[in-house]
Amino acid sequence: MEFYKDIHKITNPDSLNVLVNKFNQFSEDYIPKDLEKIAPYFNPEGLQLRHDARIAFEDMAYEANKEGIHLRAISTYRSYYYQWKVYLNNITPYISIEEYRKVRDKVSARPGHSEHQTGLAIDINDLEQTFANTPEGKWLTINSFRYGFILRYPKGKEAITGYDYEPWHFRYLGRELAEAVYFSNMVYDQFYSLHLDYNRMR
Ligand code: DAL
Ligand code: ZN
Repeated sequence: MEFYKDIHKITNPDSLNVLVNKFNQFSEDYIPKDLEKIAPYFNPEGLQLRHDARIAFEDMAYEANKEGIHLRAISTYRSYYYQWKVYLNNITPYISIEEYRKVRDKVSARPGHSEHQTGLAIDINDLEQTFANTPEGKWLTINSFRYGFILRYPKGKEAITGYDYEPWHFRYLGRELAEAVYFSNMVYDQFYSLHLDYNRMR
């Protein structure tokens, strides 16, 4: 299916299992109601996550710390308008919007389509693919599901997610669902349409 072609409005924005991707879009004014600042030790800038995700992230970072693994939040909740800025961040007068989109769509979501608008997504430590080879990146890959997080844009699944590999981007789903997704070897888009898309099942 072609990305950004057949777009659906998200009808369950507050659900912890909400699916946001290049087919499912948040409204401009959706802001989660239970955003909370992450403890300063794990993020001195006061970035915010939804309550359950904040607790889980702090718990994970605290436990990881005991093993010498240092996790810091570098990007969490982003509003629709902030995502607009992020998406257009690299634009120059020398490139057409079509050319820009072709390149930018692989690394950045268009406004309304970012998981960061859920307040349940978190970028950890470093926005480089080499993060995957660090002790922190490796630890997260195998342990984050125990705390309710999944690696949302894995390597080798670019054609399905529509994004380059992002070893730093994790999505909170709650422990039970994160574990099921982890052991399914599917990306969340696939898992959702197979197990959680109630409209399709009806
Ligand atoms: N970088 C991720 C895909 C985002 O912009 O939401
Ligand atoms: Zn991210």
